[in-house]
Amino acid sequence: MTDGIVLAIDQGTSGTKAIVADGAGQVLAIAEQAIHPRYLGGGAVEQDPAELLASVLSTGRQAVAEAGVRIDAVALANQGETVLAWDRTTGQPLSQAIVWQDRRSEQICVDRAEHAALVASRTGLVLDPYFSAPKMRWLRDNVTTAGVVTTTDTWLVHHLCGAFVTDTSTASRSLLLDLDTQRWDDRLLGVFGLEGEQLPEVVASDAIVGTTTAFGPEVPVTGLIVDQQAALLAESCLEPGTAKCTFGTGAFLLAQLGGTSSRSASGLTTSVAWTLRDSTSFCVDGQVYTAASAVRWIKELGMIAGAHELDTVSAASSEGVLCVPALAGLGSPWWDATATATWTGMTLSSTKGHLVRSVLEGIAAQVAELMRAVGDDMGTPLTRLRVDGGLTRSKVLMQAQADLAQVPVDVYPSSHATPLGAAACARLALDPQLTVSEAVGDWAATHTYEPQWSAEQAAEHLRRWESAVTASLGSQS
Ligand code: G3P
Repeated sequence: MTDGIVLAIDQGTSGTKAIVADGAGQVLAIAEQAIHPRYLGGGAVEQDPAELLASVLSTGRQAVAEAGVRIDAVALANQGETVLAWDRTTGQPLSQAIVWQDRRSEQICVDRAEHAALVASRTGLVLDPYFSAPKMRWLRDNVTTAGVVTTTDTWLVHHLCGAFVTDTSTASRSLLLDLDTQRWDDRLLGVFGLEGEQLPEVVASDAIVGTTTAFGPEVPVTGLIVDQQAALLAESCLEPGTAKCTFGTGAFLLAQLGGTSSRSASGLTTSVAWTLRDSTSFCVDGQVYTAASAVRWIKELGMIAGAHELDTVSAASSEGVLCVPALAGLGSPWWDATATATWTGMTLSSTKGHLVRSVLEGIAAQVAELMRAVGDDMGTPLTRLRVDGGLTRSKVLMQAQADLAQVPVDVYPSSHATPLGAAACARLALDPQLTVSEAVGDWAATHTYEPQWSAEQAAEHLRRWESAVTASLGSQS
Protein backbone atom coordinates (compact mmCIF):
# COMPACT_ATOMS: atom_id res chain seq x y z
CA MET A 1 0.00 0.00 0.00
CA THR A 2 1.15 3.52 -0.78
CA ASP A 3 0.01 6.94 0.44
CA GLY A 4 -1.69 7.40 -2.93
CA ILE A 5 0.23 10.58 -3.75
CA VAL A 6 -0.06 11.19 -7.48
CA LEU A 7 1.66 13.53 -9.89
CA ALA A 8 -1.17 14.15 -12.38
CA ILE A 9 -0.34 15.99 -15.58
CA ASP A 10 -3.01 17.54 -17.78
CA GLN A 11 -1.47 18.05 -21.21
CA GLY A 12 -4.09 20.32 -22.85
CA THR A 13 -4.50 22.42 -25.96
CA SER A 14 -3.46 25.77 -24.53
CA GLY A 15 -1.38 24.65 -21.58
CA THR A 16 0.11 21.87 -19.51
CA LYS A 17 -0.71 21.69 -15.83
CA ALA A 18 0.86 19.35 -13.30
CA ILE A 19 -0.49 18.84 -9.81
CA VAL A 20 0.64 16.70 -6.93
CA ALA A 21 -2.44 15.38 -5.13
CA ASP A 22 -2.43 13.40 -1.91
CA GLY A 23 -4.43 10.25 -1.18
CA ALA A 24 -7.49 12.35 -0.30
CA GLY A 25 -7.30 14.37 -3.51
CA GLN A 26 -5.91 17.48 -1.79
CA VAL A 27 -3.66 19.48 -4.09
CA LEU A 28 -0.16 19.86 -2.61
CA ALA A 29 1.50 21.66 -5.52
CA ILE A 30 0.74 23.02 -8.98
CA ALA A 31 2.93 23.97 -11.93
CA GLU A 32 1.67 25.30 -15.24
CA GLN A 33 3.10 26.20 -18.59
CA ALA A 34 1.42 27.77 -21.62
CA ILE A 35 1.40 25.86 -24.91
CA HIS A 36 1.41 27.85 -28.14
CA PRO A 37 -0.78 26.25 -30.84
CA ARG A 38 -0.19 27.82 -34.24
CA TYR A 39 -3.28 28.89 -36.21
CA LEU A 40 -1.87 28.76 -39.72
CA GLY A 41 -4.87 29.52 -41.93
CA GLY A 42 -6.73 27.05 -44.11
CA GLY A 43 -8.01 25.41 -40.94
CA ALA A 44 -4.53 24.32 -39.83
CA VAL A 45 -3.87 24.16 -36.07
CA GLU A 46 -0.53 22.69 -35.03
CA GLN A 47 1.57 22.29 -31.91
CA ASP A 48 5.27 21.59 -31.57
CA PRO A 49 5.59 18.07 -30.08
CA ALA A 50 8.87 19.07 -28.43
CA GLU A 51 7.01 21.84 -26.59
CA LEU A 52 4.39 19.34 -25.37
CA LEU A 53 6.99 16.88 -24.04
CA ALA A 54 9.18 19.57 -22.50
CA SER A 55 6.13 21.05 -20.75
CA VAL A 56 5.12 17.65 -19.34
CA LEU A 57 8.60 17.08 -17.96
CA SER A 58 9.19 20.57 -16.63
CA THR A 59 5.77 21.13 -15.02
CA GLY A 60 5.91 17.61 -13.54
CA ARG A 61 9.36 18.16 -12.05
CA GLN A 62 8.42 21.61 -10.77
CA ALA A 63 5.25 20.33 -9.07
CA VAL A 64 7.13 17.43 -7.43
CA ALA A 65 9.87 19.78 -6.20
CA GLU A 66 7.30 22.23 -4.85
CA ALA A 67 5.30 19.50 -3.08
CA GLY A 68 8.43 18.21 -1.39
CA VAL A 69 6.95 14.71 -1.02
CA ARG A 70 7.67 11.39 -2.61
CA ILE A 71 5.08 10.57 -5.29
CA ASP A 72 3.61 7.10 -5.75
CA ALA A 73 2.49 7.32 -9.39
CA VAL A 74 2.31 9.53 -12.48
CA ALA A 75 -1.01 10.06 -14.30
CA LEU A 76 -1.59 11.77 -17.64
CA ALA A 77 -4.71 13.37 -19.12
CA ASN A 78 -4.56 14.16 -22.83
CA GLN A 79 -6.28 16.31 -25.47
CA GLY A 80 -8.16 13.35 -26.94
CA GLU A 81 -7.85 13.68 -30.70
CA THR A 82 -4.51 15.43 -31.32
CA VAL A 83 -2.14 13.23 -33.37
CA LEU A 84 1.45 13.11 -34.57
CA ALA A 85 3.81 10.83 -36.47
CA TRP A 86 6.90 9.62 -34.62
CA ASP A 87 9.73 7.11 -34.77
CA ARG A 88 9.16 4.21 -32.37
CA THR A 89 12.86 3.45 -32.12
CA THR A 90 14.16 6.92 -31.35
CA GLY A 91 10.97 8.52 -30.03
CA GLN A 92 11.66 11.47 -32.33
CA PRO A 93 8.62 13.28 -33.77
CA LEU A 94 8.25 13.03 -37.56
CA SER A 95 5.53 15.68 -37.81
CA GLN A 96 4.00 18.54 -35.93
CA ALA A 97 1.13 17.63 -33.61
CA ILE A 98 -2.10 18.09 -35.59
CA VAL A 99 -4.50 19.57 -33.06
CA TRP A 100 -8.09 18.38 -32.65
CA GLN A 101 -9.27 21.80 -33.94
CA ASP A 102 -7.43 21.31 -37.27
CA ARG A 103 -9.90 21.10 -40.18
CA ARG A 104 -7.51 20.10 -43.00
CA SER A 105 -8.78 16.53 -43.12
CA GLU A 106 -12.28 17.69 -44.03
CA GLN A 107 -11.94 16.41 -47.63
CA ILE A 108 -10.80 13.03 -46.30
CA CYS A 109 -14.13 12.80 -44.49
CA VAL A 110 -16.13 14.06 -47.49
CA ASP A 111 -14.45 11.39 -49.67
CA ARG A 112 -15.63 8.70 -47.24
CA ALA A 113 -19.20 9.93 -46.83
CA GLU A 114 -20.58 6.60 -48.06
CA HIS A 115 -19.14 5.00 -44.88
CA ALA A 116 -20.70 7.53 -42.49
CA ALA A 117 -23.41 5.15 -41.26
CA LEU A 118 -20.93 2.31 -40.62
CA VAL A 119 -18.56 4.66 -38.82
CA ALA A 120 -21.36 6.05 -36.65
CA SER A 121 -22.78 2.67 -35.69
CA ARG A 122 -19.41 1.08 -34.85
CA THR A 123 -17.74 4.02 -33.14
CA GLY A 124 -20.56 6.16 -31.72
CA LEU A 125 -18.86 9.13 -33.42
CA VAL A 126 -19.48 11.18 -36.54
CA LEU A 127 -17.26 11.19 -39.65
CA ASP A 128 -15.64 14.57 -38.96
CA PRO A 129 -12.10 16.01 -39.03
CA TYR A 130 -12.34 16.60 -35.25
CA PHE A 131 -11.54 12.95 -34.56
CA SER A 132 -8.13 11.25 -34.84
CA ALA A 133 -8.35 8.93 -37.87
CA PRO A 134 -8.93 11.58 -40.58
CA LYS A 135 -5.94 13.50 -39.19
CA MET A 136 -3.85 10.30 -39.14
CA ARG A 137 -4.77 9.77 -42.83
CA TRP A 138 -3.93 13.43 -43.57
CA LEU A 139 -0.49 13.01 -41.99
CA ARG A 140 0.15 9.90 -44.09
CA ASP A 141 -0.96 11.66 -47.29
CA ASN A 142 0.77 14.96 -46.69
CA VAL A 143 3.70 14.63 -44.27
CA THR A 144 5.27 11.19 -43.87
CA THR A 145 4.71 7.48 -44.39
CA ALA A 146 7.43 6.67 -41.85
CA GLY A 147 7.14 5.72 -38.19
CA VAL A 148 3.88 5.38 -36.30
CA VAL A 149 1.01 7.82 -36.14
CA THR A 150 -0.79 8.03 -32.81
CA THR A 151 -2.50 10.38 -30.40
CA THR A 152 -0.20 12.49 -28.23
CA ASP A 153 -0.78 10.37 -25.09
CA THR A 154 0.89 7.34 -26.69
CA TRP A 155 3.95 9.39 -27.65
CA LEU A 156 4.25 11.09 -24.25
CA VAL A 157 3.85 7.78 -22.38
CA HIS A 158 6.49 6.23 -24.65
CA HIS A 159 8.87 8.96 -23.49
CA LEU A 160 7.98 8.37 -19.85
CA CYS A 161 8.21 4.59 -19.74
CA GLY A 162 8.68 3.04 -23.20
CA ALA A 163 5.14 1.56 -23.36
CA PHE A 164 3.12 1.71 -26.60
CA VAL A 165 -0.39 2.18 -25.24
CA THR A 166 -3.49 4.34 -25.24
CA ASP A 167 -6.48 4.11 -22.92
CA THR A 168 -10.03 3.14 -23.92
CA SER A 169 -11.36 6.71 -23.63
CA THR A 170 -8.70 8.13 -25.97
CA ALA A 171 -9.03 5.21 -28.41
CA SER A 172 -12.80 5.80 -28.45
CA ARG A 173 -12.19 9.27 -29.96
CA SER A 174 -10.33 7.88 -32.98
CA LEU A 175 -13.07 6.61 -35.35
CA LEU A 176 -11.10 3.34 -35.37
CA LEU A 177 -12.41 1.66 -32.22
CA ASP A 178 -15.41 -0.63 -31.98
CA LEU A 179 -17.16 1.12 -29.11
CA ASP A 180 -18.85 -2.03 -27.84
CA THR A 181 -15.76 -4.27 -27.69
CA GLN A 182 -13.17 -1.50 -27.20
CA ARG A 183 -10.95 -3.14 -29.84
CA TRP A 184 -9.44 -1.65 -32.99
CA ASP A 185 -11.78 -2.43 -35.88
CA ASP A 186 -10.24 -3.76 -39.12
CA ARG A 187 -13.10 -2.53 -41.27
CA LEU A 188 -12.73 1.03 -39.92
CA LEU A 189 -8.96 0.87 -40.41
CA GLY A 190 -9.73 -0.05 -44.04
CA VAL A 191 -12.09 2.92 -44.44
CA PHE A 192 -9.20 5.26 -43.61
CA GLY A 193 -6.52 3.20 -45.40
CA LEU A 194 -4.75 2.70 -42.07
CA GLU A 195 -4.78 -1.11 -42.00
CA GLY A 196 -0.98 -1.37 -42.15
CA GLU A 197 -0.45 0.86 -39.12
CA GLN A 198 1.03 -0.28 -35.80
CA LEU A 199 -1.59 0.69 -33.25
CA PRO A 200 -1.01 1.00 -29.53
CA GLU A 201 -2.42 -1.51 -27.07
CA VAL A 202 -5.73 -0.28 -25.63
CA VAL A 203 -5.65 -0.30 -21.83
CA ALA A 204 -7.89 0.63 -18.90
CA SER A 205 -7.46 4.00 -17.18
CA ASP A 206 -6.35 2.22 -14.00
CA ALA A 207 -3.81 0.00 -15.80
CA ILE A 208 -0.18 0.36 -14.77
CA VAL A 209 1.61 0.62 -18.12
CA GLY A 210 5.21 0.89 -16.92
CA THR A 211 7.46 2.82 -14.59
CA THR A 212 9.29 6.11 -14.96
CA THR A 213 12.21 7.91 -13.37
CA ALA A 214 11.41 11.14 -15.25
CA PHE A 215 10.28 12.89 -12.06
CA GLY A 216 12.57 11.31 -9.45
CA PRO A 217 12.64 7.80 -7.99
CA GLU A 218 10.97 5.10 -10.10
CA VAL A 219 7.15 5.15 -9.93
CA PRO A 220 4.33 3.53 -11.93
CA VAL A 221 2.74 5.29 -14.90
CA THR A 222 -1.05 4.87 -14.75
CA GLY A 223 -4.20 7.01 -14.88
CA LEU A 224 -4.27 7.59 -18.66
CA ILE A 225 -7.51 9.26 -19.77
CA VAL A 226 -8.92 11.96 -22.07
CA ASP A 227 -9.04 15.35 -20.34
CA GLN A 228 -12.83 15.75 -20.71
CA GLN A 229 -13.53 12.32 -19.32
CA ALA A 230 -11.13 13.02 -16.44
CA ALA A 231 -13.17 16.10 -15.53
CA LEU A 232 -16.41 14.08 -15.79
CA LEU A 233 -14.94 11.67 -13.23
CA ALA A 234 -13.62 14.38 -10.89
CA GLU A 235 -17.03 16.07 -10.94
CA SER A 236 -18.60 12.81 -9.69
CA CYS A 237 -20.70 12.31 -12.80
CA LEU A 238 -20.97 8.61 -12.00
CA GLU A 239 -24.74 8.11 -12.26
CA PRO A 240 -26.51 8.09 -15.66
CA GLY A 241 -27.92 11.54 -16.40
CA THR A 242 -25.30 13.50 -14.48
CA ALA A 243 -23.47 15.99 -16.69
CA LYS A 244 -20.61 18.45 -16.71
CA CYS A 245 -19.31 21.11 -19.04
CA THR A 246 -15.67 22.17 -19.01
CA PHE A 247 -15.19 25.71 -20.29
CA GLY A 248 -11.62 25.59 -21.60
CA THR A 249 -10.20 26.19 -25.09
CA GLY A 250 -13.49 24.73 -26.22
CA ALA A 251 -16.54 23.94 -24.08
CA PHE A 252 -17.23 20.24 -23.70
CA LEU A 253 -20.50 18.87 -22.41
CA LEU A 254 -20.39 15.24 -21.30
CA ALA A 255 -23.23 13.26 -19.72
CA GLN A 256 -22.78 9.89 -18.05
CA LEU A 257 -24.56 6.94 -19.71
CA GLY A 258 -23.44 4.21 -17.31
CA GLY A 259 -22.67 0.83 -18.85
CA THR A 260 -24.81 1.39 -21.96
CA SER A 261 -23.08 2.53 -25.13
CA SER A 262 -26.29 3.81 -26.73
CA ARG A 263 -25.80 5.80 -29.92
CA SER A 264 -27.15 9.33 -30.13
CA ALA A 265 -30.19 10.03 -32.27
CA SER A 266 -29.66 13.77 -31.79
CA GLY A 267 -26.32 14.40 -33.49
CA LEU A 268 -24.20 13.95 -30.37
CA THR A 269 -21.39 11.41 -30.01
CA THR A 270 -20.96 8.46 -27.66
CA SER A 271 -17.53 7.62 -26.24
CA VAL A 272 -15.94 5.61 -23.50
CA ALA A 273 -16.01 7.62 -20.29
CA TRP A 274 -13.46 5.30 -18.69
CA THR A 275 -12.58 1.70 -18.03
CA LEU A 276 -11.97 1.32 -14.30
CA ARG A 277 -12.10 -1.79 -12.13
CA ASP A 278 -12.61 -3.88 -15.29
CA SER A 279 -15.85 -2.07 -16.08
CA THR A 280 -16.42 0.39 -18.92
CA SER A 281 -18.72 3.40 -18.60
CA PHE A 282 -19.85 5.46 -21.55
CA CYS A 283 -20.75 9.09 -22.02
CA VAL A 284 -22.57 11.17 -24.57
CA ASP A 285 -20.84 14.38 -25.55
CA GLY A 286 -21.26 17.57 -27.48
CA GLN A 287 -18.72 20.25 -28.07
CA VAL A 288 -18.33 23.98 -28.62
CA TYR A 289 -15.03 24.12 -30.50
CA THR A 290 -14.21 27.68 -29.53
CA ALA A 291 -14.94 28.96 -26.01
CA ALA A 292 -11.72 30.40 -24.51
CA SER A 293 -10.47 30.35 -28.14
CA ALA A 294 -13.31 32.78 -28.99
CA VAL A 295 -12.38 34.92 -25.96
CA ARG A 296 -8.74 34.94 -27.11
CA TRP A 297 -9.95 36.02 -30.55
CA ILE A 298 -11.97 39.01 -29.22
CA LYS A 299 -8.92 39.90 -27.13
CA GLU A 300 -6.82 39.92 -30.30
CA LEU A 301 -9.44 42.16 -31.91
CA GLY A 302 -8.78 44.57 -29.03
CA MET A 303 -12.22 44.27 -27.43
CA ILE A 304 -10.91 43.10 -24.07
CA ALA A 305 -7.46 43.06 -22.48
CA GLY A 306 -8.02 39.49 -21.32
CA ALA A 307 -10.63 37.08 -19.97
CA HIS A 308 -10.56 38.96 -16.65
CA GLU A 309 -12.29 41.88 -18.39
CA LEU A 310 -15.19 39.87 -19.80
CA ASP A 311 -17.66 40.77 -17.07
CA THR A 312 -16.69 44.42 -16.79
CA VAL A 313 -16.78 45.06 -20.55
CA SER A 314 -19.99 43.04 -21.13
CA ALA A 315 -23.14 45.16 -21.36
CA ALA A 316 -26.07 44.24 -19.11
CA SER A 317 -27.90 42.91 -22.18
CA SER A 318 -26.82 42.10 -25.71
CA GLU A 319 -29.65 44.33 -27.07
CA GLY A 320 -30.48 41.93 -29.89
CA VAL A 321 -26.89 41.23 -30.95
CA LEU A 322 -26.31 37.51 -31.47
CA CYS A 323 -23.04 35.67 -31.96
CA VAL A 324 -22.48 32.15 -33.21
CA PRO A 325 -18.85 31.62 -32.16
CA ALA A 326 -18.15 28.99 -34.85
CA LEU A 327 -14.54 30.09 -35.36
CA ALA A 328 -13.38 26.50 -36.03
CA GLY A 329 -16.52 25.04 -37.58
CA LEU A 330 -19.44 23.51 -35.71
CA GLY A 331 -19.53 20.11 -34.02
CA SER A 332 -22.62 18.46 -32.52
CA PRO A 333 -25.35 18.52 -33.61
CA TRP A 334 -24.59 20.45 -36.83
CA TRP A 335 -21.30 18.78 -37.86
CA ASP A 336 -20.24 21.42 -40.32
CA ALA A 337 -16.49 21.84 -40.57
CA THR A 338 -17.02 24.73 -42.99
CA ALA A 339 -19.25 26.76 -40.64
CA THR A 340 -17.92 30.19 -39.75
CA ALA A 341 -18.64 32.59 -36.90
CA THR A 342 -21.33 35.22 -37.32
CA TRP A 343 -22.45 38.34 -35.51
CA THR A 344 -25.98 39.45 -36.31
CA GLY A 345 -28.51 41.99 -35.06
CA MET A 346 -26.14 44.96 -34.88
CA THR A 347 -27.29 48.57 -35.24
CA LEU A 348 -25.53 51.95 -35.01
CA SER A 349 -26.18 51.90 -31.27
CA SER A 350 -24.49 48.52 -30.75
CA THR A 351 -21.39 48.80 -28.59
CA LYS A 352 -18.36 46.71 -27.79
CA GLY A 353 -20.17 45.69 -24.59
CA HIS A 354 -23.07 44.24 -26.59
CA LEU A 355 -20.67 42.34 -28.85
CA VAL A 356 -18.69 40.91 -25.93
CA ARG A 357 -21.87 39.86 -24.16
CA SER A 358 -23.17 38.25 -27.35
CA VAL A 359 -20.03 36.07 -27.55
CA LEU A 360 -20.63 34.80 -24.00
CA GLU A 361 -24.33 34.26 -24.70
CA GLY A 362 -23.36 32.50 -27.94
CA ILE A 363 -21.18 30.01 -26.07
CA ALA A 364 -23.95 29.48 -23.49
CA ALA A 365 -26.60 29.08 -26.21
CA GLN A 366 -24.54 26.44 -27.93
CA VAL A 367 -24.10 24.51 -24.65
CA ALA A 368 -27.86 24.87 -23.97
CA GLU A 369 -28.60 23.38 -27.42
CA LEU A 370 -26.28 20.47 -26.65
CA MET A 371 -27.99 19.94 -23.29
CA ARG A 372 -31.34 19.83 -25.05
CA ALA A 373 -29.96 17.19 -27.45
CA VAL A 374 -28.67 15.12 -24.50
CA GLY A 375 -32.11 15.32 -22.90
CA ASP A 376 -33.74 14.23 -26.19
CA ASP A 377 -31.37 11.25 -26.39
CA MET A 378 -31.94 10.22 -22.79
CA GLY A 379 -35.68 10.77 -22.93
CA THR A 380 -35.44 12.99 -19.87
CA PRO A 381 -34.02 16.49 -19.60
CA LEU A 382 -30.80 17.21 -17.71
CA THR A 383 -31.77 18.79 -14.42
CA ARG A 384 -28.44 20.34 -13.34
CA LEU A 385 -25.10 21.11 -14.91
CA ARG A 386 -21.71 20.88 -13.17
CA VAL A 387 -19.10 23.22 -14.62
CA ASP A 388 -15.36 23.75 -14.43
CA GLY A 389 -12.64 25.47 -16.43
CA GLY A 390 -11.17 28.96 -16.61
CA LEU A 391 -14.23 30.63 -18.15
CA THR A 392 -16.39 29.65 -15.15
CA ARG A 393 -14.83 32.75 -13.55
CA SER A 394 -17.09 34.82 -15.80
CA LYS A 395 -20.27 35.39 -13.80
CA VAL A 396 -21.93 36.75 -16.94
CA LEU A 397 -21.23 33.51 -18.83
CA MET A 398 -22.33 31.26 -15.97
CA GLN A 399 -25.55 33.23 -15.39
CA ALA A 400 -26.25 33.12 -19.15
CA GLN A 401 -25.70 29.36 -18.99
CA ALA A 402 -28.24 28.93 -16.19
CA ASP A 403 -30.68 31.28 -17.94
CA LEU A 404 -30.49 29.64 -21.36
CA ALA A 405 -30.34 26.02 -20.18
CA GLN A 406 -32.99 26.69 -17.50
CA VAL A 407 -31.17 24.54 -14.94
CA PRO A 408 -29.01 25.34 -11.90
CA VAL A 409 -25.32 25.49 -12.75
CA ASP A 410 -22.98 24.15 -10.01
CA VAL A 411 -19.42 25.46 -10.11
CA TYR A 412 -16.85 22.79 -9.24
CA PRO A 413 -14.70 24.03 -6.34
CA SER A 414 -11.32 23.41 -7.92
CA SER A 415 -9.74 24.69 -11.10
CA HIS A 416 -7.98 21.34 -11.44
CA ALA A 417 -10.85 18.98 -12.29
CA THR A 418 -8.97 17.32 -15.15
CA PRO A 419 -5.77 16.39 -13.30
CA LEU A 420 -7.81 15.45 -10.22
CA GLY A 421 -9.78 12.99 -12.36
CA ALA A 422 -6.57 11.48 -13.75
CA ALA A 423 -5.19 11.27 -10.19
CA ALA A 424 -8.33 9.39 -9.08
CA CYS A 425 -7.70 6.80 -11.85
CA ALA A 426 -4.11 6.40 -10.64
CA ARG A 427 -5.23 5.97 -7.00
CA LEU A 428 -7.48 3.11 -8.12
CA ALA A 429 -4.43 1.45 -9.66
CA LEU A 430 -2.45 1.93 -6.45
CA ASP A 431 -5.13 0.64 -4.05
CA PRO A 432 -7.15 -2.43 -5.09
CA GLN A 433 -9.62 -1.87 -2.21
CA LEU A 434 -10.67 1.63 -3.26
CA THR A 435 -14.01 2.12 -5.06
CA VAL A 436 -14.42 4.62 -7.90
CA SER A 437 -16.54 6.98 -5.78
CA GLU A 438 -14.05 6.78 -2.90
CA ALA A 439 -11.22 7.60 -5.31
CA VAL A 440 -13.13 10.68 -6.49
CA GLY A 441 -14.18 11.83 -3.02
CA ASP A 442 -16.81 14.37 -2.00
CA TRP A 443 -17.02 17.99 -3.03
CA ALA A 444 -19.46 20.87 -2.76
CA ALA A 445 -20.11 23.55 -5.39
CA THR A 446 -18.53 26.90 -4.62
CA HIS A 447 -21.49 28.63 -6.20
CA THR A 448 -24.75 27.67 -7.85
CA TYR A 449 -26.23 29.92 -10.54
CA GLU A 450 -30.02 29.63 -10.62
CA PRO A 451 -31.94 30.56 -13.79
CA GLN A 452 -33.22 34.14 -13.66
CA TRP A 453 -34.84 34.24 -17.08
CA SER A 454 -38.28 32.77 -17.62
CA ALA A 455 -38.61 29.64 -19.74
CA GLU A 456 -40.29 31.76 -22.45
CA GLN A 457 -37.43 34.28 -22.48
CA ALA A 458 -34.89 31.46 -22.84
CA ALA A 459 -36.87 29.71 -25.57
CA GLU A 460 -37.25 32.97 -27.53
CA HIS A 461 -33.52 33.73 -27.28
CA LEU A 462 -32.60 30.20 -28.40
CA ARG A 463 -35.07 30.39 -31.28
CA ARG A 464 -33.40 33.61 -32.53
CA TRP A 465 -29.94 32.15 -31.94
CA GLU A 466 -30.79 29.01 -33.97
CA SER A 467 -31.82 31.25 -36.88
CA ALA A 468 -28.42 32.91 -36.62
CA VAL A 469 -26.77 29.48 -36.87
CA THR A 470 -28.23 29.16 -40.37
CA ALA A 471 -26.05 32.07 -41.46
CA SER A 472 -22.99 30.37 -39.96
CA LEU A 473 -23.38 27.10 -41.80
CA GLY A 474 -21.03 26.70 -44.72
CA SER A 475 -20.87 24.93 -48.05
CA GLN A 476 -21.05 21.51 -46.40
CA SER A 477 -24.66 22.02 -45.27
O1 G3P B 1 -11.65 17.22 -27.61
C1 G3P B 1 -10.65 18.13 -27.31
C2 G3P B 1 -10.60 18.45 -25.84
O2 G3P B 1 -10.60 17.29 -25.06
C3 G3P B 1 -9.45 19.37 -25.53
O3 G3P B 1 -9.59 19.90 -24.26
O4 G3P B 1 -8.86 21.25 -22.36
O5 G3P B 1 -7.25 20.73 -24.17
O6 G3P B 1 -9.10 22.31 -24.59
P1 G3P B 1 -8.65 21.14 -23.80
